[in-house]
Amino acid sequence: MNHIAPVPVLTIDGPSGSGKGTVSRRVAEHLGWRLLDSGALYRAVGYAAGAAGLDLTDAEAVTRCAQSTKIRFQASADGGDTRILVNGHDATDELRTETAGAAASAIASIAAVRQALVDLQLGFRKSPGLVADGRDMGTVIFPDAPFKVFLTASAAERAKRRYKQLKEKGLNVTLASLQREIEARDHRDASRAVAPLKPAPEAVLVDSTGMRIDQVVARVLAVVQPQ
Ligand code: DC
Repeated sequence: MNHIAPVPVLTIDGPSGSGKGTVSRRVAEHLGWRLLDSGALYRAVGYAAGAAGLDLTDAEAVTRCAQSTKIRFQASADGGDTRILVNGHDATDELRTETAGAAASAIASIAAVRQALVDLQLGFRKSPGLVADGRDMGTVIFPDAPFKVFLTASAAERAKRRYKQLKEKGLNVTLASLQREIEARDHRDASRAVAPLKPAPEAVLVDSTGMRIDQVVARVLAVVQPQ
């Protein structure tokens, strides 16, 4: 019998602002593995639904939108951030905003929308390995992943980090409003009926409050490559 070892996956789940995006990207680069930013898929669907003028609570219309939206990740020509094309339009900058995050969180509670994105996500599992960043990577999409991390940080620290990031991008926000938005989004993501934000029982919990990014990266890499 010929046993082909499954492609290894490291799932990194956690709330927004926990540093998942940066940590996942650095860990993927270090391992030479592919990266799945699953939040970008939900953001892209929320964006496409908004652009089409849909009511985000209209489950049927948003599901049809999720099924028909073409989402592509493209390496940027100048070596910068990966560009995200939504129906052929480069929506990378629009997708980063808090408005896009809130729209993503709203449409992500629709079970059929989540279902529409499953195959796309599974398709990222290619040799030599995959780092999958999201909310339900270890619990729903890649339950057989050999490596699972749940990354968190206090809401105050996450709001501070987000504030800094958005300010650097020139966006106009206040710390207090960000913390309120983060707490509201956490609550919605954790309390929804389908694929709620929660650690897989076997996930390694990493609380990044007070840690530097390089320390968090080292801690996560140690899950895949124990010393
Ligand atoms: O990781 P992010 O902030 O880009 O995610 C945006 C929203 O998308 C998040 O608030 C909830 C939703 N999401 C999800 O439901 N499941 C995922 N695997 C990733 C994101």
